[in-house]
Amino acid sequence: PENVGILALEMYFPSQFVDQTELEQFDGASAGKYTIGLGQQKMGFCNDREDINSLCLTVVKNLLEHYSIKPEEIGRLEVGTETIIDKSKSVKTVLMQLFTPHGVTDIEGIDTTNACFGGTAALFNAISWLESSAWNGRFALVVAADIAVYAKGAARPTGGAGAVAMLLGPNAPLVFDRGVRGFFCKHAYDFYKPDLNSEYPVVDGKLSVQCYLEALDNCYQLYCKNVEKKTQVPVNLNYFDAVLFHTPYCKLVQKSVGRLALNDFHRTPDNKKSELFPGSERFCSVKLEESYFDRDVEKAFLAYSNEAFINKTKPSLLIASQIGNMYTSSLYGGLVSFVLSKDISELQGSKVALFSYGSGLASSFFSLKIQEGSSTALEQMKNNLNCIRSKLEQRVKINPQEFESTLELRQKSSHTAPYEATGQTSHFFPGTYYLTKIDEQHRRSYSIA
Ligand code: ACO
Repeated sequence: PENVGILALEMYFPSQFVDQTELEQFDGASAGKYTIGLGQQKMGFCNDREDINSLCLTVVKNLLEHYSIKPEEIGRLEVGTETIIDKSKSVKTVLMQLFTPHGVTDIEGIDTTNACFGGTAALFNAISWLESSAWNGRFALVVAADIAVYAKGAARPTGGAGAVAMLLGPNAPLVFDRGVRGFFCKHAYDFYKPDLNSEYPVVDGKLSVQCYLEALDNCYQLYCKNVEKKTQVPVNLNYFDAVLFHTPYCKLVQKSVGRLALNDFHRTPDNKKSELFPGSERFCSVKLEESYFDRDVEKAFLAYSNEAFINKTKPSLLIASQIGNMYTSSLYGGLVSFVLSKDISELQGSKVALFSYGSGLASSFFSLKIQEGSSTALEQMKNNLNCIRSKLEQRVKINPQEFESTLELRQKSSHTAPYEATGQTSHFFPGTYYLTKIDEQHRRSYSIA
């Protein structure tokens, strides 16, 4: 099939948040550390009524309803998540409750996990299926969802929660470029979840940032090489209309655009360097792998890339700054923000780069093109996403003290059975699935707000 890509986008996020300025004060952090230092405004979080199943049920149900997709039109359903509540049973099988009552049981796919990369792995699986001999003419549905919570300490303000569902098929308005993606995977203990009874990861924050930047360098270099080999077109930041990133916090993304400029600088022939990067002579001997925390290099390339950041990346950070890190769904929240930020005529013809990173680690730099010409699918997508800004505003603000006790309750209860959920339900957006109880056999029941 031709033009395989995204036909529909749906997003769900929690209807409550904690304000990062208030959290700075509450945590005794210096004023501006979370808001300016990390670039975060608000952080979405869930009470004990929400788990990975409820998030995914909500986003899939909403996508099917909002785009009038019949259950029998889905041939593959993939879930990418690192919010593991069961070591055996996949979230995908839980989602079958939305299909089985309609007599639909022949849906391929299961869950995929590697930190924040699982959603992208699920997406790549779905694309492969659509392009393969196993494809049966139906749509693929990819769900990326997570509840990101950290133990008290430096990492806590970089939490978040959310879910993005993507409908994939041929003749899509957002078409993935073939045969060019760059991939980087290696063994690292930067962020991992060895304690299966806890929602919290073990994190080496500094190492995780270094790994993220190392992965970005490697994936981008490979992507550039692949495109240049295939099309003979040289690649640098100018090649893209938008550059979207997995967003643990917005400041890291701004630095990452600078990092791409540093890579471009490295790839520029010596006789062109000072013309394209005025005043850059002193960086000619800088090695990528020795510059992750070089302040001088960082500052210079933040300046060279500032315009690119403002035009190509900042529009994609709306959801990340308002909700926080949504792990697997973070990059796709970036895509949603980007689609929201432009008129249809501006979107059409855009070349969009995407960088996905999952600790441990697996990562990829890939791209898509938004088709030119009239597209009802693109119009429908934009119309469906238009309510997101107002929904972000409708959320209920919770004070840091209550946020902290909510996280304590989650930590105590997430693997308890039997368990009756006690959290409020009045704040939920209509149509939200929420947990009612876990029985003595650990079987979970849900209601809909
Ligand atoms: N005003 C303005 N800026 C400030 C202030 C202030 N009052 N105080 C500190 N800052 C700046 C710092 O200078 C620093 O800026 P820099 O990044 O340019 O150096 C920034 O705020 C953060 O401060 P640090 O002291 O470096 O923060 P800390 O080490 O306490 O924690 C970290 C940051 C490591 C990101 C932590 O939040 C964390 O571990 N998060 C989880 C891991 C993570 O997200 N990793 C990213 C990739 S992996 C993934 O996606 C999970």
